[in-house]
Amino acid sequence: MNALGIETSCDETSAAIVAGEGDAARVVSCVILSQDVHAVYKGVVPELASRAHLTALGPVVDRALSGARLDLEDVDLFAVTEGPGLIGALLVGVSYAKGLALATGRPLVGVHHLEAHLFGTALDDPAAVPPFVGLIVSGGHSLLLDVPAWGTYRLLGETRDDAVGEAFDKVGSLLGLGYPGGPVVEKAAREGDPARFTFPRPMLHSHQRPGDGDYFDLSMSGLKTAVIHAVRASENPAADTVHLARGFQDAVIEVLVTKTVRAVDACGRSRVVLGGGVACNRALREAMAAALARKGATLHAPSPRLSTDNAAMIARAGIFHARDAESGRALDASARLPFPGLVRA
Ligand code: KG4
Ligand code: ZN
Repeated sequence: MNALGIETSCDETSAAIVAGEGDAARVVSCVILSQDVHAVYKGVVPELASRAHLTALGPVVDRALSGARLDLEDVDLFAVTEGPGLIGALLVGVSYAKGLALATGRPLVGVHHLEAHLFGTALDDPAAVPPFVGLIVSGGHSLLLDVPAWGTYRLLGETRDDAVGEAFDKVGSLLGLGYPGGPVVEKAAREGDPARFTFPRPMLHSHQRPGDGDYFDLSMSGLKTAVIHAVRASENPAADTVHLARGFQDAVIEVLVTKTVRAVDACGRSRVVLGGGVACNRALREAMAAALARKGATLHAPSPRLSTDNAAMIARAGIFHARDAESGRALDASARLPFPGLVRA
């Protein structure tokens, strides 16, 4: 099966061809166009995102097809991100995908963006398949899940306030490093002294058992406030920038690693799948892999290309849901949270 995926939920316009069945499916082509119009605003401007998708999507889809040496008629299934995301941006992708499906008479399946992040890693790493603990950390979401099988998702924890990527973005602009914050904060942190600033580890020590409210949940806003206070109190904020970045990143990593290891213990899993833009962070990957190795578990993280938003993961999730498309499931069925198969643990 050749699946064509389309992703326009935020500020990446992407189209991809994924071919094959089930866990044997592989990326044939993947085109990702990152919109740079937002950098000057230090955040994504929804209306600008929609307009940029509108002009880019046609050529991006054409490039994905030509990269795979396929014609539109060779596509067996269309898959499109249906939500969550910016409503205007989503509408561009969904409308375009509906047009392609109508023109070719092929089925179209709506995909939940966060479920797709769980599928993305397996396109790079054949071992990243259930059962596993999934940690999705992006600019908009932070979720810790138990995934006993594709289509069955137990939500263990999520953020109470800011998403992890959002916290990186806010700290990045607070420190004057630019937007998006993740890559620049990570780069600065490499030069930083870990002993200079020790920030709080939110929700780490107060709740010690599964069933305690915050055992798996995350919170980033108190940490962000602590960084703001440290910047204000600094006598030389410019010189302290790298140390502040290091202190912040170390706090985030310790929280994410500790909660993920808790999930591995509680669910008895031996694999962790990381996804979302923050999965690009090398310090996080290294700390997570080391902590999991001590438990006899392994970390499976996608390449940077498949960590951030991309249409290959959408096509892969579409292949999983292909039967729903054939049985005529309405396009809107998967957009609502919780996504299909998700239950709160
Ligand atoms: O998954 P993604 O591309 O888009 C969303 O669905 O949000 O994630 C983007 C987020 C941004 O907040 C960005 O700052 C963060 O991922 N990010 C990183 C790194 N690279 C990107 N965060 C930490 N370290 C990085 N190296
Ligand atoms: Zn995403």
